[in-house]
Amino acid sequence: MYYHRIDIPTKAKSIKIVPIGDIHNGNPYSDTAKATKFRDYVLNTPDTYTIDMGDDMDNVVLGSKGEIYDQQQSPHHQFKETIKFWKPVAKAGKLLAIMDDNHTYRSRALADWHIVEDICEKLDARYGGFGCFLDLRIGAQQYTIYCLHGRKGGTTDSGVLNTLVKMNQRVVADIYLRGHNHRKIVHQDEVKKLTKFGLMEHKRSYGVTGSFMSWDNSYAERSEYLISVRGCIKLELFADHWDVHISL
Ligand SMILES: [Fe+2]
Repeated sequence: MYYHRIDIPTKAKSIKIVPIGDIHNGNPYSDTAKATKFRDYVLNTPDTYTIDMGDDMDNVVLGSKGEIYDQQQSPHHQFKETIKFWKPVAKAGKLLAIMDDNHTYRSRALADWHIVEDICEKLDARYGGFGCFLDLRIGAQQYTIYCLHGRKGGTTDSGVLNTLVKMNQRVVADIYLRGHNHRKIVHQDEVKKLTKFGLMEHKRSYGVTGSFMSWDNSYAERSEYLISVRGCIKLELFADHWDVHISL
């Protein structure tokens, strides 16, 4: 597990986070134009940040799942495209971290190429591994995010929501985020805790962060997967008081 403390100075009443993930560059059904629109929104909107949720690259390799002859470009070129995509965001200080993922892991298993670590090195970005604690300090407030790309599948929305909420059995955080499931789900709950300051409420926010894959005629359609929900979810973290809003 990785840990990064990030101080975010702001004069605004809140900051926004729009996590971007599951672009699957190289896949013929990857909607990179839509992903670029979200990236540019982050770049052009003040006090707005992003997390790279992983699976930037489709990375179909010899013997792996997926259709190697359909890939629009090789892993090497997907790697270069990914760096190009994130470079301005990293430069603007708006990229909080990059999650490692199952698609690039194929190259690690096959040839010991740690693609996401290499991307982080090139971009001077924070590496999130397969699970990461982000400790955000915004004004006088502290927010903790437990963030990962994810591995567990889910054939139903309720199954995916279950996997998402169960992340709270591994880590205590304010916000739980996962990619991988190619849908957008947001949820909140609240628990009570008794502290030395008395009885406190702990509001927890959960998000599955969407994808950029078209479905018609794709591997997903032929495999009878659910239609991917394209786009991003959005979080608002307040600086003047402690609260999290999460929306589709
Ligand atoms: Fe994935």
